[in-house]
Amino acid sequence: MEQKITALRERFAFALSNVADPVALEALRVEYLGKKGLLADLMQSLRELSGEGKKQAGQFINALKNEVEQTIRSAAEAQQKAELDKLVNGAKQYDVTLPERTLHGSYHPISLVQREVEHIFVTMGFTVEEYPEIVDDYHCFEALNIPKHHPARDMQDTYYLNNGQLLKTHTSAAQNAIMRKYGAPLRAIFPGRCFRNESIDACHENTFFQMEGIMIDRDISIANLIYFMKTMLSEVFQQDIKVRLRPGFFPFVEPGFELDISCLICGGEGCPSCKDSGWLELCPCGMIHPRVLEMGGIDPNEYTGFAFGLGLTRLAMMRYGVKDIRDFNSGNLRVLAQFT
Ligand code: PHE
Repeated sequence: MEQKITALRERFAFALSNVADPVALEALRVEYLGKKGLLADLMQSLRELSGEGKKQAGQFINALKNEVEQTIRSAAEAQQKAELDKLVNGAKQYDVTLPERTLHGSYHPISLVQREVEHIFVTMGFTVEEYPEIVDDYHCFEALNIPKHHPARDMQDTYYLNNGQLLKTHTSAAQNAIMRKYGAPLRAIFPGRCFRNESIDACHENTFFQMEGIMIDRDISIANLIYFMKTMLSEVFQQDIKVRLRPGFFPFVEPGFELDISCLICGGEGCPSCKDSGWLELCPCGMIHPRVLEMGGIDPNEYTGFAFGLGLTRLAMMRYGVKDIRDFNSGNLRVLAQFT
């Protein structure tokens, strides 16, 4: 009997050394400790014995049973720990701060608003024009009735390039070229990215988008300007938009205005986005100065026109309730993903 017990102990030790995973370990447990397992068999064979021998053999078998139980329990714990270590070490290979791979592409909110406004103006007979971001002094200033040393240049903290060209500070920089290209009558919008050397905060950026529009024809008046702006804004916001016109000065319009809309983020009560005024400056505009028409090759005695410089970035903030202008250029995919 003693031999049998020793043989089983050795057999178990060997079998255990070949166990590779939790499934095999469980099989081993059943094989030895199960109701019809090897240890149960051994217990059965006690019946062949009697007296002191039986008692001793019984104690040996019980000792082996305890040993097997204990060993299997420790082996299971070791396996669990190894599994956990593997997971933890595996996780270290990933940068958990990376954006998830499953992100789908989305349009930038400014692109979305731009398309919307383009669509509205196209249905009103405007064409959509493109113009470079790098321009010359003539188009950005001179042709807009802003001669050298004119104080209005100070308003536009310009980024100059080494070759004398500059990053366009406003989409008005395209007015002259478009007038020359098409002549009058003319209805065109030209969206574009603009740059100004400004310090950045929740409502100022050095890089922002505008959409310029000009309409030139016989007998164009301020009434036409107001009509087009109100129609467009009410379409964009799908509600009747409150606007106000304040006098504004720009050398290329006469008269010139600032068109404000009531802040849609705070409902006019005042918040950081509207500098607590309840109004957002959205769209400087005015009647095109006769000299600008002239420089564009259009006879100011025959034609008049209006121009506006819609702040597309501002418009996107209002449209989507974005409180901080810096979010637009942050490159944060989690911001953009909201606009899929
Ligand atoms: N270009 C002007 C600016 O950005 C805005 C403007 C456009 C004003 C058209 C009047 C007419 O400051």
